[in-house]
Amino acid sequence: MHLQDILYSQGFGTRRVCAGLIQQGHVSVAGKAVDDPFADLDPEGLLFTVQGTEWAYHEKAYLMLHKPAGTECSQKPSTYPSIYTLLPSPLRLRPNKGAVQGVQAIGRLDQDTTGLLLLTDDGQFIHKMGSPKHHVPKGYEVTAKHPVDALQIDKLLAGVVLDDDPKPVRAAACESDSPLHLRLTLTEGKYHQVKRMLAAVGNRVEGLHRSRIGDLALPGDLAAGQWRWLTAEQVAALRAPAKPGKR
Ligand code: URA
Repeated sequence: MHLQDILYSQGFGTRRVCAGLIQQGHVSVAGKAVDDPFADLDPEGLLFTVQGTEWAYHEKAYLMLHKPAGTECSQKPSTYPSIYTLLPSPLRLRPNKGAVQGVQAIGRLDQDTTGLLLLTDDGQFIHKMGSPKHHVPKGYEVTAKHPVDALQIDKLLAGVVLDDDPKPVRAAACESDSPLHLRLTLTEGKYHQVKRMLAAVGNRVEGLHRSRIGDLALPGDLAAGQWRWLTAEQVAALRAPAKPGKR
């Protein structure tokens, strides 16, 4: 693949901009500047440097972000900064079928919710992860306003009715290891679901953190505001159907 096409595919600008970066000596491969936009390279596993920043070629981008509080999962936020400002510009400028599209969050977290968020530019993956049939369990750490009692846990597990649907929604797992803390696993992703479920059992969410999606846990060394590429194994595990007992 031509070096200018590699840069273009990774979100470094139009082909003309990429050719310019290369011709001006801003791009190096294996520590050596390459000034030919048509240099033919195998993109698979390629590491290159653009204006001093190292970049790894990814045909499709799959990443995790530790969403901090006070950020919105929208490209056009209304009140708080967008999570997309936390990503380097190539991730926001990756082309898709000729148009700039960048990566998109898979589902949304509320502005005050922290934790694990996945992003990708693979439309089929977004569709699969969002499909009700796929049932990826998501783990939340809840700080409750009032002490959580056994009856509340029983109701969350049995199912509660929310205002927009007569069909009850239930937690796949729910445990409390201290009075104001609840660990909840959900397999659906309705709007404000955790907050509305807690409200339905007479409690209130004071703090919400997503710690897990499927088998993927938010790494302890990924600080709020930081992102990381998912490995091929992590992407494959997320694509796989949910394991029995984890729903
Ligand atoms: N449930 C909520 O209420 N908010 C979130 O951000 C995620 C799940």
